[in-house]
Amino acid sequence: MNTEKEQILNKIDKNNLPSHVAIIMDGNGRWAKKQNKIRTFGHKEGAENVVEIVRASSNLGIKELSLYAFSTENWKRPAKEVDTIMSLVVKFIDKYIDELNRENVYLQMLGRRDEVPDFVLDKVDYALDLTKNNNGMILNLCLNYGSRQEILDACKSLVKEYQNYSIEDIERINFNDFEKYLYSKNYTDVDLLIRPSGELRLSNFLMYQSSYAELYFSDILWPDFKKENLYEAILDFQNRNRRFGGV
Ligand code: FPP
Repeated sequence: MNTEKEQILNKIDKNNLPSHVAIIMDGNGRWAKKQNKIRTFGHKEGAENVVEIVRASSNLGIKELSLYAFSTENWKRPAKEVDTIMSLVVKFIDKYIDELNRENVYLQMLGRRDEVPDFVLDKVDYALDLTKNNNGMILNLCLNYGSRQEILDACKSLVKEYQNYSIEDIERINFNDFEKYLYSKNYTDVDLLIRPSGELRLSNFLMYQSSYAELYFSDILWPDFKKENLYEAILDFQNRNRRFGGV
Protein backbone atom coordinates (compact mmCIF):
# COMPACT_ATOMS: atom_id res chain seq x y z
CA MET A 1 0.00 0.00 0.00
CA ASN A 2 1.46 3.40 -0.86
CA THR A 3 1.85 6.09 1.78
CA GLU A 4 -0.99 8.29 0.58
CA LYS A 5 -3.51 5.44 0.89
CA GLU A 6 -2.04 4.47 4.25
CA GLN A 7 -2.45 8.03 5.48
CA ILE A 8 -6.15 8.13 4.61
CA LEU A 9 -6.68 4.79 6.32
CA ASN A 10 -4.82 5.97 9.42
CA LYS A 11 -7.05 9.02 9.71
CA ILE A 12 -10.16 6.87 10.11
CA ASP A 13 -11.44 6.60 13.67
CA LYS A 14 -12.08 2.86 14.07
CA ASN A 15 -14.44 3.59 16.97
CA ASN A 16 -16.74 5.73 14.87
CA LEU A 17 -17.28 3.65 11.78
CA PRO A 18 -20.58 3.70 9.92
CA SER A 19 -22.13 0.40 10.89
CA HIS A 20 -24.09 -0.02 7.65
CA VAL A 21 -22.71 1.30 4.35
CA ALA A 22 -24.87 1.18 1.21
CA ILE A 23 -23.50 1.81 -2.27
CA ILE A 24 -25.25 2.58 -5.56
CA MET A 25 -22.67 1.23 -8.00
CA ASP A 26 -23.30 3.76 -10.75
CA GLY A 27 -21.32 4.87 -13.78
CA ASN A 28 -20.29 1.61 -15.46
CA GLY A 29 -21.80 2.61 -18.80
CA ARG A 30 -20.10 6.01 -18.86
CA TRP A 31 -16.82 4.45 -17.78
CA ALA A 32 -16.98 2.10 -20.79
CA LYS A 33 -17.91 4.92 -23.13
CA LYS A 34 -14.87 6.89 -22.03
CA GLN A 35 -12.70 3.96 -23.14
CA ASN A 36 -14.65 3.64 -26.41
CA LYS A 37 -15.97 0.30 -25.26
CA ILE A 38 -19.50 -1.11 -25.07
CA ARG A 39 -21.52 -0.73 -21.86
CA THR A 40 -21.15 -4.37 -20.83
CA PHE A 41 -17.38 -3.85 -20.63
CA GLY A 42 -18.06 -1.27 -17.93
CA HIS A 43 -20.20 -3.71 -15.97
CA LYS A 44 -17.41 -6.30 -16.09
CA GLU A 45 -14.97 -3.77 -14.71
CA GLY A 46 -17.57 -2.70 -12.15
CA ALA A 47 -17.98 -6.30 -10.98
CA GLU A 48 -14.20 -6.61 -10.53
CA ASN A 49 -14.29 -3.51 -8.36
CA VAL A 50 -16.90 -5.08 -6.07
CA VAL A 51 -14.37 -7.42 -4.49
CA GLU A 52 -11.94 -4.58 -3.67
CA ILE A 53 -14.66 -2.67 -1.85
CA VAL A 54 -16.01 -5.76 -0.08
CA ARG A 55 -12.52 -6.70 1.15
CA ALA A 56 -11.76 -3.15 2.29
CA SER A 57 -15.09 -2.87 4.13
CA SER A 58 -14.72 -6.21 5.86
CA ASN A 59 -11.10 -5.49 6.87
CA LEU A 60 -12.09 -2.13 8.26
CA GLY A 61 -14.81 -3.64 10.44
CA ILE A 62 -17.92 -2.40 8.65
CA LYS A 63 -20.79 -4.53 9.99
CA GLU A 64 -23.13 -4.41 7.00
CA LEU A 65 -22.51 -3.53 3.35
CA SER A 66 -25.36 -3.25 0.84
CA LEU A 67 -24.56 -3.18 -2.87
CA TYR A 68 -27.13 -2.23 -5.52
CA ALA A 69 -26.38 -4.75 -8.26
CA PHE A 70 -29.69 -4.68 -10.15
CA SER A 71 -32.85 -2.69 -9.56
CA THR A 72 -36.46 -3.60 -10.27
CA GLU A 73 -36.30 -0.92 -12.97
CA ASN A 74 -33.16 -2.28 -14.64
CA TRP A 75 -35.21 -4.84 -16.63
CA LYS A 76 -35.92 -1.95 -19.02
CA ARG A 77 -32.33 -2.22 -20.29
CA PRO A 78 -31.44 -4.16 -23.46
CA ALA A 79 -31.62 -7.95 -22.93
CA LYS A 80 -27.89 -8.33 -23.66
CA GLU A 81 -27.00 -5.90 -20.89
CA VAL A 82 -29.38 -7.57 -18.42
CA ASP A 83 -27.89 -10.98 -19.28
CA THR A 84 -24.39 -9.65 -18.75
CA ILE A 85 -25.16 -8.26 -15.31
CA MET A 86 -26.87 -11.51 -14.27
CA SER A 87 -23.91 -13.56 -15.53
CA LEU A 88 -21.51 -11.26 -13.69
CA VAL A 89 -23.30 -11.97 -10.42
CA VAL A 90 -22.88 -15.70 -11.03
CA LYS A 91 -19.21 -15.27 -12.00
CA PHE A 92 -18.60 -13.12 -8.94
CA ILE A 93 -19.97 -15.85 -6.68
CA ASP A 94 -17.98 -18.55 -8.51
CA LYS A 95 -14.76 -16.61 -8.20
CA TYR A 96 -15.00 -15.10 -4.73
CA ILE A 97 -17.47 -16.98 -2.53
CA ASP A 98 -14.83 -19.24 -0.98
CA GLU A 99 -12.75 -16.21 -0.03
CA LEU A 100 -15.80 -14.41 1.36
CA ASN A 101 -16.72 -17.51 3.31
CA ARG A 102 -13.21 -17.73 4.79
CA GLU A 103 -13.53 -14.05 5.71
CA ASN A 104 -16.68 -15.00 7.65
CA VAL A 105 -18.92 -12.82 5.43
CA TYR A 106 -22.66 -13.52 5.73
CA LEU A 107 -24.36 -13.08 2.37
CA GLN A 108 -27.98 -12.06 1.90
CA MET A 109 -29.94 -11.40 -1.26
CA LEU A 110 -32.36 -8.50 -1.01
CA GLY A 111 -34.96 -8.21 -3.74
CA ARG A 112 -37.84 -9.98 -5.41
CA ARG A 113 -36.82 -13.50 -6.32
CA ASP A 114 -39.43 -13.92 -9.04
CA GLU A 115 -38.13 -12.67 -12.40
CA VAL A 116 -34.52 -13.45 -11.46
CA PRO A 117 -33.40 -16.29 -13.77
CA ASP A 118 -33.06 -19.72 -12.17
CA PHE A 119 -29.37 -20.06 -13.02
CA VAL A 120 -28.71 -16.93 -10.94
CA LEU A 121 -31.00 -17.94 -8.06
CA ASP A 122 -29.38 -21.39 -7.90
CA LYS A 123 -25.93 -19.82 -7.56
CA VAL A 124 -27.13 -17.22 -5.07
CA ASP A 125 -28.85 -19.92 -3.00
CA TYR A 126 -25.65 -21.96 -2.97
CA ALA A 127 -23.75 -18.91 -1.66
CA LEU A 128 -26.43 -18.10 0.92
CA ASP A 129 -26.33 -21.65 2.22
CA LEU A 130 -22.52 -21.71 2.33
CA THR A 131 -22.30 -18.52 4.39
CA LYS A 132 -25.43 -18.93 6.52
CA ASN A 133 -23.57 -19.61 9.77
CA ASN A 134 -21.03 -16.82 9.35
CA ASN A 135 -21.09 -13.93 11.77
CA GLY A 136 -18.73 -11.46 10.11
CA MET A 137 -19.76 -8.64 7.84
CA ILE A 138 -23.27 -8.89 6.39
CA LEU A 139 -23.09 -8.44 2.62
CA ASN A 140 -26.43 -7.54 1.09
CA LEU A 141 -26.54 -8.33 -2.60
CA CYS A 142 -29.43 -6.16 -3.78
CA LEU A 143 -30.70 -7.93 -6.85
CA ASN A 144 -34.04 -7.14 -8.48
CA TYR A 145 -34.32 -4.76 -5.56
CA GLY A 146 -36.65 -1.76 -5.28
CA SER A 147 -37.41 0.11 -2.10
CA ARG A 148 -41.05 0.86 -2.94
CA GLN A 149 -41.51 -2.79 -3.89
CA GLU A 150 -39.94 -3.86 -0.58
CA ILE A 151 -42.29 -1.63 1.41
CA LEU A 152 -45.32 -2.79 -0.59
CA ASP A 153 -44.29 -6.45 -0.21
CA ALA A 154 -43.88 -5.92 3.53
CA CYS A 155 -47.37 -4.36 3.74
CA LYS A 156 -48.90 -7.31 1.89
CA SER A 157 -47.22 -9.87 4.17
CA LEU A 158 -48.23 -7.89 7.23
CA VAL A 159 -51.87 -7.60 6.12
CA LYS A 160 -52.00 -11.36 5.52
CA GLU A 161 -50.58 -12.03 8.96
CA TYR A 162 -52.91 -9.59 10.73
CA GLN A 163 -56.12 -10.37 8.86
CA ASN A 164 -57.77 -11.98 11.88
CA TYR A 165 -56.50 -9.45 14.40
CA SER A 166 -58.60 -6.74 16.00
CA ILE A 167 -58.40 -3.05 15.03
CA GLU A 168 -56.80 -2.41 18.46
CA ASP A 169 -54.02 -4.92 17.71
CA ILE A 170 -53.47 -3.32 14.30
CA GLU A 171 -53.27 0.13 15.92
CA ARG A 172 -50.48 -1.21 18.14
CA ILE A 173 -48.24 -2.21 15.18
CA ASN A 174 -44.97 -0.34 15.58
CA PHE A 175 -41.82 0.06 13.46
CA ASN A 176 -40.25 -3.02 15.02
CA ASP A 177 -43.24 -5.14 14.06
CA PHE A 178 -43.32 -3.69 10.55
CA GLU A 179 -39.59 -4.13 9.90
CA LYS A 180 -39.92 -7.89 10.39
CA TYR A 181 -41.63 -7.99 6.99
CA LEU A 182 -38.86 -6.22 5.10
CA TYR A 183 -36.51 -8.34 2.97
CA SER A 184 -33.85 -8.62 5.65
CA LYS A 185 -34.55 -10.03 9.08
CA ASN A 186 -31.53 -8.31 10.58
CA TYR A 187 -31.45 -4.89 8.97
CA THR A 188 -29.70 -2.10 10.70
CA ASP A 189 -30.31 1.47 9.55
CA VAL A 190 -28.03 2.67 6.77
CA ASP A 191 -25.48 5.10 8.24
CA LEU A 192 -23.65 6.06 5.08
CA LEU A 193 -25.08 5.91 1.57
CA ILE A 194 -22.53 6.36 -1.21
CA ARG A 195 -23.33 7.15 -4.83
CA PRO A 196 -20.46 7.54 -7.24
CA SER A 197 -20.71 8.89 -10.82
CA GLY A 198 -22.04 12.37 -10.09
CA GLU A 199 -25.74 11.49 -9.99
CA LEU A 200 -27.61 12.94 -7.02
CA ARG A 201 -30.49 10.49 -6.60
CA LEU A 202 -31.56 7.62 -4.35
CA SER A 203 -33.07 5.63 -7.25
CA ASN A 204 -35.39 3.53 -5.12
CA PHE A 205 -32.56 2.14 -2.97
CA LEU A 206 -33.08 1.28 0.72
CA MET A 207 -35.23 4.37 1.27
CA TYR A 208 -36.85 3.09 4.46
CA GLN A 209 -33.49 2.05 5.91
CA SER A 210 -31.78 5.28 4.81
CA SER A 211 -34.15 7.65 6.61
CA TYR A 212 -31.25 9.06 8.62
CA ALA A 213 -28.34 8.02 6.40
CA GLU A 214 -25.57 10.47 5.66
CA LEU A 215 -25.39 10.85 1.88
CA TYR A 216 -22.05 10.93 0.09
CA PHE A 217 -21.82 11.71 -3.62
CA SER A 218 -18.68 11.43 -5.71
CA ASP A 219 -17.97 12.21 -9.37
CA ILE A 220 -15.80 9.12 -9.71
CA LEU A 221 -17.36 6.39 -11.85
CA TRP A 222 -17.92 3.06 -10.06
CA PRO A 223 -15.14 1.04 -11.77
CA ASP A 224 -12.67 3.72 -10.59
CA PHE A 225 -14.12 4.00 -7.07
CA LYS A 226 -11.32 2.29 -5.13
CA LYS A 227 -10.78 1.57 -1.45
CA GLU A 228 -9.13 4.94 -0.81
CA ASN A 229 -12.31 6.57 -2.14
CA LEU A 230 -14.29 4.47 0.33
CA TYR A 231 -11.95 5.64 3.10
CA GLU A 232 -12.51 9.26 2.03
CA ALA A 233 -16.26 8.75 2.18
CA ILE A 234 -15.92 7.29 5.69
CA LEU A 235 -13.72 10.20 6.80
CA ASP A 236 -16.33 12.59 5.46
CA PHE A 237 -19.00 10.66 7.41
CA GLN A 238 -16.92 10.98 10.57
CA ASN A 239 -16.95 14.76 10.21
CA ARG A 240 -20.72 14.97 9.98
CA ASN A 241 -22.82 16.09 12.90
CA ARG A 242 -25.63 13.52 13.17
CA ARG A 243 -28.60 14.79 15.13
CA PHE A 244 -31.38 12.35 14.14
CA GLY A 245 -33.90 15.17 14.37
CA GLY A 246 -32.61 16.40 17.73
CA VAL A 247 -30.53 19.51 18.36
C1 FPP B 1 -25.21 1.24 -12.91
O1 FPP B 1 -24.33 1.79 -13.87
C2 FPP B 1 -24.83 -0.15 -12.68
C3 FPP B 1 -25.68 -1.21 -12.75
C4 FPP B 1 -27.10 -1.08 -13.08
C5 FPP B 1 -25.18 -2.59 -12.55
C6 FPP B 1 -24.23 -2.77 -11.43
C7 FPP B 1 -23.63 -4.11 -11.56
C8 FPP B 1 -22.36 -4.46 -11.32
C9 FPP B 1 -21.36 -3.54 -10.76
C10 FPP B 1 -21.86 -5.84 -11.63
C11 FPP B 1 -22.55 -6.99 -10.97
C12 FPP B 1 -22.59 -6.95 -9.48
C13 FPP B 1 -21.97 -7.79 -8.63
C14 FPP B 1 -22.30 -7.74 -7.20
C15 FPP B 1 -20.96 -8.76 -9.06
P1 FPP B 1 -24.93 2.31 -15.25
O2 FPP B 1 -24.88 1.20 -16.25
O3 FPP B 1 -26.29 2.88 -15.05
O4 FPP B 1 -23.91 3.42 -15.64
P2 FPP B 1 -24.22 4.73 -16.49
O5 FPP B 1 -25.13 5.59 -15.65
O6 FPP B 1 -22.88 5.32 -16.67
O7 FPP B 1 -24.85 4.30 -17.77
